[in-house]
Amino acid sequence: MKAVAVVPGNKNSLHVRADVPEPTPAAGEAVVRVLEAGVCGTDVEIHQGLYGSAPGASPYLVLGHENLGVVETVPAGHGLEEGDLVVATVRRPCDEPCRPCASDQNDMCLTGRFQERGIGGLHGFMSERYSENPRYLVKLPHSLRHTAVLLEPMTIVQKGIEQALRIQERMAWDPRRAVVLGAGPVGILAAAALRMRGYQVTVAALEPEGTFKDLLLDEAGIDYVSTGRTPLSDLKTKLGRIDLVFEATGSTHVVVPAMQLLGPAGVCILSSVTGGTKNLDVDVATWNREMVLGNRLVFGTVNAARRHFEAGVRDLEFAEERLPGWMAKLITRRLPFTDALRALDRTPEDVKTVLEFA
Ligand code: BGC
Repeated sequence: MKAVAVVPGNKNSLHVRADVPEPTPAAGEAVVRVLEAGVCGTDVEIHQGLYGSAPGASPYLVLGHENLGVVETVPAGHGLEEGDLVVATVRRPCDEPCRPCASDQNDMCLTGRFQERGIGGLHGFMSERYSENPRYLVKLPHSLRHTAVLLEPMTIVQKGIEQALRIQERMAWDPRRAVVLGAGPVGILAAAALRMRGYQVTVAALEPEGTFKDLLLDEAGIDYVSTGRTPLSDLKTKLGRIDLVFEATGSTHVVVPAMQLLGPAGVCILSSVTGGTKNLDVDVATWNREMVLGNRLVFGTVNAARRHFEAGVRDLEFAEERLPGWMAKLITRRLPFTDALRALDRTPEDVKTVLEFA
């Protein structure tokens, strides 16, 4: 069958190949026909040879972790049937397995020996079909057919927010204002999820005001600030107390300013996987003093567990109910998978590019 693949470690290696074996499901596994796969920053890094590993002795890695498919065959007893719309989770447990991996929390793996489909050690979903253990398949209603491919990036947001709220149970908290840094898919989804939870949300990003993303956010009652006009350091005075910051720019430059935006007892969620190294001259005494005297909190978050996929499905449904058609506008380009290379050329107006397989 055909698939979009890369040679991990090799720069600019993305290609479409026709010699990928059809899946041979192990006992108990389902076969899923792929409908769509989203392209994300991690895929670009893998294509650039900066990240990712192929399974075992395979000379290539089938790319793709943002996925949507339809069940072709599935053994009985898993609550799934032929024709169901499904999204697969990304991470698989480590071999030990550590306590989180043994408790269906592969996203919190302690050994680092987990595997991720389409990223590290396992083929991904940018192929015509794949096989998978049904426990890693999450069913979606057919009403979400046109937005379901956004579920995986939405789970990153769900996990970040869920953890922030759980950690903040340390106090009586009535959060009102959130700032999201970055207007890529994760940033926009984070802003939407926070707005749905009643926060006043401001997205701050590089693009000028009045362009597509600003207008899209405005439709959902989310404010937009261009950092070209308003430097991040001015946001605190402009907005007042900021209770929650969601950093999703992918840029190392923003990490320290993100933490500095926090109001007293505020929480900063860091979600960008930044490559390479970056040294900064930071006034640690002031930073530490503000963290301590303000009971501030900063944490990192990656990947997501099954419950975050289920929560993401509920948010995608809620968004559709509240603002029909809005979520679908985040998919700014759909291309046949055979044009995968073109998917990597992005314009500032692009939010999510999706490859179509069927
Ligand atoms: C994916 C996560 C993954 C992370 C690190 C992200 O792009 O969405 O599922 O854990 O990359 O590999």
